[in-house]
Amino acid sequence: MSDETLKVGDTIEVTTEGIAYGGDAVARHEGAVIFIPYAAADERLVIQITEQKKNFFRGSIIRVLEPSDARRDPPCEYFGRCGGCQLQHLDYAAQLSAKEGFIRDALERIGRIEWQPQIKVQPSPELGYRTRARLTLEKVAQVGDASNQASISIGFNEARSKSICDVSFCPVLSDGLNKALSDLREKLGGTWPFTGRAHEIEAAAGDSGYAIQPPIPGLSSGKLNCNVGDATYVFEPSIFFQSNRELLRDLVEAVIADQKGGLAIDLYSGVGLFSIALARRFERVVAVESESSAVKAAIENIAINRIENVRVIKASVEEWVKNFVRRLKERTAEAPGLIVLDPPRKGASAAIKDVARMKSAKIVYVSCDPTTLARDLRTLVDCGYVLDDIGAFDLFPQTYHVETVVKLSRAAEQGSHSPSRREKVNGTKTGRTGA
Ligand SMILES: C[S@@+](CC[C@H](N)C(=O)[O-])C[C@H]1O[C@@H](n2cnc3c(N)ncnc32)[C@H](O)[C@@H]1O
Repeated sequence: MSDETLKVGDTIEVTTEGIAYGGDAVARHEGAVIFIPYAAADERLVIQITEQKKNFFRGSIIRVLEPSDARRDPPCEYFGRCGGCQLQHLDYAAQLSAKEGFIRDALERIGRIEWQPQIKVQPSPELGYRTRARLTLEKVAQVGDASNQASISIGFNEARSKSICDVSFCPVLSDGLNKALSDLREKLGGTWPFTGRAHEIEAAAGDSGYAIQPPIPGLSSGKLNCNVGDATYVFEPSIFFQSNRELLRDLVEAVIADQKGGLAIDLYSGVGLFSIALARRFERVVAVESESSAVKAAIENIAINRIENVRVIKASVEEWVKNFVRRLKERTAEAPGLIVLDPPRKGASAAIKDVARMKSAKIVYVSCDPTTLARDLRTLVDCGYVLDDIGAFDLFPQTYHVETVVKLSRAAEQGSHSPSRREKVNGTKTGRTGA
């Protein structure tokens, strides 16, 4: 059967190759690429084609003929229906290996960067790790005549659907967040106090208890505390804060490592997670963040930790770095020793060329999306940076998400890796080990 004749509803036998970013296994059938959710690599499957797109198909498993050794029973009863997790059917070693593959694949395909050394993905406790979540509440049916009496679903979006998967216990959530889930259910009873059919709640757990926002009377909605190493952070559920407490200390240590010097710049600084650690090793730190609530929390965190050498600037990174480059040219600013950038999922494409023009000796790029990371790294490499190290943290076990930390230095700064010595890989100029 050729891909022209393959169509929705067909049942075929395939052997899967690897796992693609997003969590689906990939199989090929006479030239057609098929993505298959909840499959492992190297499995023989009977699948049914469920969807046809311009360049690929999607299929669902009808029967597993030859299962992978990595296949296991998922630890959650909602797996397959709830859209929160994609990889519970794989043992943890296979999940980590898939994540190294996501990074490597994005670097090669999107960044045209070949990275030979291993990319170690630091493991996390597999379950009970998650300390932040967006819960969706949905009024599914009205009960009786009273307009505010309802049957209510509380949980997460179902996979590839707008419906809500009603979850009474989620094994990836921390105990604190599972308590938030059950308290929410108990507090509402069968009463629907919101307008509309659906309502979203941000829930987060700190060192002592949880909070939700927007507030619901009787449930905590205040500030939370979290200690990481010797620093204390205050945050609120509606402000970005990393959602896996277990690896936070190691993540901060990996980003800062033994770097020290004059000026460090923390772009997309949030509540100051990296700024506070940087302040202990650099003479001056500038933190740039656009969200007012995060800026306010960062200022509070700096005061709580008795730090005096961090300046928090409320600005869009794009505008601030452009301005910095202008000041650098006018010699009213000095080149930083280190830039840490930790953008949201969409990456930093609008700012990345100016980040390179800031002439920082070192850059550490922290990313939660290998595809946008690879695109931005390509720009940094084209602007004269070389990759020194790539590491990753499994901040989100059971899902396809992975946090990557990439360390770069300016080629001119590197004795043994000056631009003139860069190798050509895949027809493009790249840095160390072909990167
Ligand atoms: C992935 S979070 C990282 C926060 C912090 N580094 C941490 O680890 O806690 C990204 C942060 O960038 C901020 N942000 C998003 N777009 C921005 C922009 N264009 N300019 C400045 N900050 C931005 C968000 O508000 C968020 O706090």
